[in-house]
Amino acid sequence: MSAPSLDTVRTLQPSAVLGLGLYRASRVVPNADVVEAIDSSDEWIQQRSGIVERRFATPEESVVAMSVGAAREAIDDAGIQPGQIDVVIVATVSHLLQTPSAATMIAHELGSTGAAFDISAACAGFCHGLAIASDLVRAGSARHVLVIGVERLSDITSPTDRGTAFIFSDGAGAAVVGPAETQGIGPVVWGSDGGKYDLIRQTEDWRDVVAVGSTTMPHLVMKGAEVFRWAAFEMAKVATETLERSGVRPEDLDLFVPHQANMRITDAMARSMKLPDTVRIARDIAHQGNASAASVPLALRQLVLDGEARSGDTALLIAFGAGLSFAAQVIRIP
Ligand code: UT7
Repeated sequence: MSAPSLDTVRTLQPSAVLGLGLYRASRVVPNADVVEAIDSSDEWIQQRSGIVERRFATPEESVVAMSVGAAREAIDDAGIQPGQIDVVIVATVSHLLQTPSAATMIAHELGSTGAAFDISAACAGFCHGLAIASDLVRAGSARHVLVIGVERLSDITSPTDRGTAFIFSDGAGAAVVGPAETQGIGPVVWGSDGGKYDLIRQTEDWRDVVAVGSTTMPHLVMKGAEVFRWAAFEMAKVATETLERSGVRPEDLDLFVPHQANMRITDAMARSMKLPDTVRIARDIAHQGNASAASVPLALRQLVLDGEARSGDTALLIAFGAGLSFAAQVIRIP
């Protein structure tokens, strides 16, 4: 007897982003407040990164609290109820409890008993989550998937580390992915280069912290110039390939929403991709800083709130960071 077919999905269900939401950490911290500890200046930070001020969380603004805020807005925007969420995917590197995941608590607070899990792909996490969510909906494994990118990097950034203290920030962004009449999320282009594992990393693992009797938390360190070169050159190629794989020409693109790592990286990518002036480019980093996994959904939602992104527009998303890892896709704005 032949084995039974387990395939109950006859045709792929088109998937799309149905709603977006954001939560910005409430403390606005200008460059003037971080420069002394790192012997820097407002002028240097603005010139080298484009950052004017960043958002830091208050003690109450936990990873879970910020996620719930962004998620509620996205669920509302999608016009569904929390109970309709089948899967919650949370991309983060700053939920500081090894287990359980942040996702189950977030799902519970929202009122969902769907599958819930965290993923760790640093700044590229949200675009990884979006790719997984899209394929879950397409294959019929879920009807609605909530994807959250959230960070409280102020917990794991040293205020005296010159290479990172002025960059990283806190916040959350969310998207609801669900069924649509036509496909609204293009094929993901993603990958990694573990040969560059040490370029952005936590200083030491928890056993080493205990072994040396340290009383301070490990923090993030980054070889910024090397990451910059990789991002500016390699990620422009990935972005171009993503457009090609989705069948979108640069002149047909409405929005470019890259990871908000550095304004100069964004400009270099746009130049190298020869994006026409008609493409609106996300520049959320100026007043948010780099919120890692939250950066792309924060920037995306802000473009909608500002009226820069309109329903039906085509947006290229690309995120990249520690690992090194990256993921990119084209989406239709809900
Ligand atoms: O989110 C994950 C992905 N992350 C990224 O993509 C970040 C990529 N990297 C960057 O954005 C940039 O490398 C930084 C903004 C982090 C640094 O800018 P940079 O232009 O690459 O600076 P650098 O490290 O090459 O240093 C240039 C100069 C040096 O001085 P000299 O040797 O030219 O005299 C540094 O000592 O700037 C000096 N410098 C600083 N000066 C003031 C380095 N850090 C600072 C600082 N303030 N914080």
